[in-house]
Amino acid sequence: METKKNILEIKNLHTYFYTDGGIIKSVDGVDIKLKEGSTLGIVGESGSGKSVTALSVMSLLMGTRGRVAQGEILLDGKDVVRIGEEEKRKLRGGRISMIFQEPMTSLNPVMKIGRQLTECVLQHEAVSKQEAYKKAEDMLRMTGVPRVERMMKEYPFQLSGGQRQRVMIAIALVCKPQVLIADEPTTALDVTIQAQILDLMNNLKKETGTSILFITHDLGVVAETCDEVAVMYCGRVVEKGDVKSIFAAPSHPYTRGLLASIPKLGVPVDELESIPGNVPSPRHMPEGCKFAPRCSRAFDKCRKEEPDFFHMGNGHVSRCWLCEGKGGEGK
Ligand SMILES: Nc1ncnc2c1ncn2[C@@H]1O[C@H](COP(=O)(O)OP(=O)(O)OP(=O)(O)O)[C@@H](O)[C@H]1O
Ligand SMILES: [Mg+2]
Repeated sequence: METKKNILEIKNLHTYFYTDGGIIKSVDGVDIKLKEGSTLGIVGESGSGKSVTALSVMSLLMGTRGRVAQGEILLDGKDVVRIGEEEKRKLRGGRISMIFQEPMTSLNPVMKIGRQLTECVLQHEAVSKQEAYKKAEDMLRMTGVPRVERMMKEYPFQLSGGQRQRVMIAIALVCKPQVLIADEPTTALDVTIQAQILDLMNNLKKETGTSILFITHDLGVVAETCDEVAVMYCGRVVEKGDVKSIFAAPSHPYTRGLLASIPKLGVPVDELESIPGNVPSPRHMPEGCKFAPRCSRAFDKCRKEEPDFFHMGNGHVSRCWLCEGKGGEGK
C-alpha cells in the first residue's frame, strides 16, 4: 500500500476558552492526520468543536478568549502554534487557507472581487500587479463562474450566494495552498449548487494537489467527498478511519446514530432515526464516556471511565468500550 506523508498533523490539541463563567474545553485532546492530496472529513453535531479545531489550525482565535492550551499543529512538520504572529499571517491564505460557511462575513463588501483576489496573490507572491490580476482571473474562471471579466469588476453584493461561495473558493485556492480547510462550505446553499460546489472542490483538489480538511454535519457529503473521516463529540475524536471502513462497519454508537440519521431514498424523513438527548453542556461534562448518557448500549464502566482508542485494523480507531476484546486492541 502506498503511504502518503502527513501534510497536517494535529497532535493532542486542547483549545480552551477562558470565560468569566469558567473554562470551556471546546477541543480536548484531538489527534488528526491529513495525508497529502487527500480529503479528511470532520463530522459531529453542533458544538462538538469542529470549527474551533479549524480556527486553531488557522491561528484565528485572536479576538476571542480562546487559546491553544496544549498540543501541536504540524504543517509539513512545523509546529504552527509556536511561531510568531507575522509568520502565522503569512501562512494564512498562503500555505493554508479556509472557506467559511457564510461568504459575506469573510468577503470585503466594499472591495471589488478582482481586487480582493489580486491582493491575495500580491500578499503571497512576488509578481507584478498585472500578473497577479491575470492569476486571479484564471483562478476565478476555474471555479466555473460565467462572465469572469465582468465579475472581477463587481462587488460581493452584486453576486448570488453560489457565486460568492465560488469567489471564496477562488480566494482560498489562488495561492495554491497545501491545505484547504472548508468549514461547512455548502450548508447555506441550495442542493443543486451544493453539488456543483462539491464537484468543483473535488476537481480543484485533483488539479492543484491541495489537501482538504472538510467540516460538515452531513455524513452523506462525507461519503461523496472524503477519503477519511474523523467523528467528533464533545471536543474529542470518538472514531476515525477511512471512509469505506467507517461506513461499512461503524463501531462507535455515536457514529452509528449519525449514519442512521442520513436521509435515504425511499425512506420517509419521519422514519429516520435520530440520536436521543442532547450534546451535554461544556460546563457539565459527564463522567466516563461523554456519549454514555445518550447511548442505548452503555454499561457501568462507560459511566465511570473514559475509553482510549481501540484499534480496529487498517487505521480505523474507536473510543468505545464495546470494542474491547472485539479485534479492537487498546492503546
Ligand atoms: N468565542 C467563543 N467563546 C466561548 N466559547 C466558544 C467560542 N467559540 C466556540 N465556543 C464553544 O466551543 C464549543 C465548540 O464550538 P464549535 O464552534 O467548534 O462547534 P462546531 O462543532 O463547529 O458546531 P457547529 O456545527 O454548530 O458549527 C461550543 O461549546 C461553543 O459554545
Ligand atoms: Mg462550526
